[in-house]
Amino acid sequence: MFNIILFGPPGSGKGTQSERLVLKYGLKHLSTGDILRSEIASQTPLGLEAKNLMDKGQLVPDEVVIGMISSALENNPQAKGFLFDGFPRTEAQAEALDKLLKLKQTEIGVVLALIVSEEELVQRLLNRGLTSGRPDDNNVEVIRARITEYHKKTSVVADYYRKFNKVFDIPGEGTVDEIFESLCEKIDERM
Ligand code: AP5
Repeated sequence: MFNIILFGPPGSGKGTQSERLVLKYGLKHLSTGDILRSEIASQTPLGLEAKNLMDKGQLVPDEVVIGMISSALENNPQAKGFLFDGFPRTEAQAEALDKLLKLKQTEIGVVLALIVSEEELVQRLLNRGLTSGRPDDNNVEVIRARITEYHKKTSVVADYYRKFNKVFDIPGEGTVDEIFESLCEKIDERM
């Protein structure tokens, strides 16, 4: 089993690249953002609670997303490996993920951190907001709040994995193909 974390701030291209990576490597894609949006669409109690925070650009509580990932791991016993997109987002989530994977006698193989300038992130998300219908892409204050939340709580996750020599920084500006190639190069090196 080979497990990847695709890491980076909002709008850095995690979702775009995940779609291609899971096809190439046959991994199961686990995006906590996508799971939360499907809970919102189904109007579950969890979705209603999460929507409030997501619309303001704030993180959903750790225990909620850890529970979601724990169920997803249980529900995919045949997976060749997992691609985590948007998770872990706090050090507590990273520690919980390590424990969950250890129970399955596996671990994170590599963390790929997409590096994109803040102005480019804001531009990409505002552009997407024109058509996506995502309330958190709709205005620049919420987008900036998401980026602030990333700096306050999430960027430390890369430092956590750096201690284990698992992180590669990947330039995240350029064409989608160029970035995909750089990601594959690092995965092939570690797989
Ligand atoms: P989530 O859904 O994870 O969103 P995000 O991290 O804010 O990231 P995005 O999906 O907006 O961006 P991305 O990096 O995937 O980039 P994408 O490929 O889409 O989280 C949403 C919310 O859910 C959070 O704010 C939080 O409230 C909650 N949440 C989720 N996970 C959580 C967790 N673990 N803990 C707590 N709360 C959690 O690309 C963006 C745009 O750029 C697209 O339009 C794309 O076409 C374009 N683009 C992509 N690549 C390029 C390129 N190379 N050049 C030009 N444009 C590009």
